[in-house]
Amino acid sequence: MRMSELDNRSLIRFMVGAVLITVSLSGILLLGASTMVMAQSVDDYVGPATCQACHADNYEEWDGTAHSNAFTDEAFQSEWQSQGSPSECLECHTTGYDATSGEYAFEGVTCESCHEAGLTMAVNTAPELCGSCHTGEYGKEKFAKFQEGIHSNSGVTCVDCHMYEDNHRFEVESKACATCHTDDDIHDRRLILDLQGASLESEAMYEELEAEYNELVNSLGGEEERTTLMTYVAIGGAGIIALISVVVAIYYYRYRGA
Ligand code: HEC
Ligand code: HEC
Ligand code: HEC
Ligand code: HEC
Ligand code: HEC
Ligand code: HEC
Repeated sequence: MRMSELDNRSLIRFMVGAVLITVSLSGILLLGASTMVMAQSVDDYVGPATCQACHADNYEEWDGTAHSNAFTDEAFQSEWQSQGSPSECLECHTTGYDATSGEYAFEGVTCESCHEAGLTMAVNTAPELCGSCHTGEYGKEKFAKFQEGIHSNSGVTCVDCHMYEDNHRFEVESKACATCHTDDDIHDRRLILDLQGASLESEAMYEELEAEYNELVNSLGGEEERTTLMTYVAIGGAGIIALISVVVAIYYYRYRGA
């Protein structure tokens, strides 16, 4: 009787211990797996061809742009190779670059550089996204310059100007400016077109006319001379008008008299 009681107790203890160990082991495994997913490892990226299957329009716009060619681009390749192909360049010229292993998922700035790895399909319009690459010497300090400008302070984003109607070429279209700078805006739409160089031609014409006018004024000499000249012109003009009036009066008198 006592022997079997002891057996039962150690069996229960053994089973409880086994359950506890299993639970904590799977907990550790689950935690590890979830942190691996969050880190977006190189294997999480599916590549632009996968997105193309359902988003053909976006793919076609993006294909052939500076973003899609950011790695294969001759200018990049020659500079990169001349420096001995340093891996830190790949941070912005490839997709899914992993600094610890030096590996990357795809060449160039692809869909998943901006929409997160895999089929997350996240949309991020924050200037900080563009600014993560468009910074430093190679990025021509675009982000810092943007932050100093009036648009940044007014809440306007890179995407507002560079992705008019969601275009994935990232070229700025003048229509993009007109979405905000309308005719009844204090900053008239024409001002914006002027600033974009649309009226440079008429500006040149204006300058030419102004120069001609100044030349004419100068050729008339000083203020005093000009006044005398104007007086002569006035007297002469009045004389001619008086003469014409007299001639007309004489003809009229003769005609009435006849
Ligand atoms: C099997 C088809 C399919 C594939 C593959 C696919 N998508 Fe989508 N995606 C959709 C559908 C459907 C929608 C919702 C309708 C829409 O907005 O066009 C969508 C929406 C989106 C949106 C907008 C989400 C929003 O909140 O407005 C983005 C961004 C996007 N996809 C990016 C991607 C990227 C990047 C890839 C490749 C990594 C990809 N998609 C692959 C079908 C797909
Ligand atoms: C922080 C991100 C970042 C890093 C790191 C980076 N670049 Fe770039 N690079 C850019 C961006 C953004 C542009 C586009 C600049 C523009 O046109 O305004 C660019 C453009 C270039 C261009 C001009 C390409 C052309 O078609 O004219 C070359 C060449 C280049 N990078 C080489 C390199 C090399 C070599 C390295 C490493 C030593 C490097 N980059 C590291 C972001 C980066
Ligand atoms: C340089 C960053 C960048 C790259 C590269 C990029 N996108 Fe986008 N995409 C954006 C941003 C930002 C928006 C949101 C635009 C907006 O809301 O005005 C967007 C919007 C979208 C949308 C939703 C709007 C729409 O047109 O239906 C889809 C779908 C999409 N992108 C798919 C793609 C696919 C597919 C690729 C690759 C072929 C790609 N994107 C590459 C930044 C990017
Ligand atoms: C992952 C890094 C990365 C992100 C994010 C990114 N870009 Fe770029 N972008 C580049 C690189 C690199 C180039 C230059 C590629 C080359 O010419 O070799 C470039 C080129 C460009 C160009 C063309 C420049 C030229 O000289 O023709 C424009 C415009 C541009 N990016 C705008 C944007 C905007 C707007 C966003 C945010 C929606 C954005 N980029 C997000 C890396 C990035
Ligand atoms: C108010 C509108 C506006 C905003 C906001 C804006 N840009 Fe631009 N961007 C322009 C214009 C206009 C040009 C010059 C015309 C062109 O080259 O397409 C330009 C040129 C560029 C170029 C060089 C393109 C080339 O062909 O040389 C890059 C890269 C760029 N912008 C990136 C950005 C980034 C990144 C942001 C946000 C941090 C941003 N821009 C915000 C209007 C804007
Ligand atoms: C999303 C809206 C939006 C877009 C798109 C936009 N702007 Fe603006 N812009 C503003 C706002 C807001 C201001 C701040 C001044 C104001 O209240 O009008 C501003 C200010 C300006 C100013 C300064 C005016 C001043 O009095 O100092 C200029 C110049 C300008 N924008 C040119 C442009 C050009 C060029 C484009 C296209 C490449 C453009 N903007 C696109 C909203 C926009």
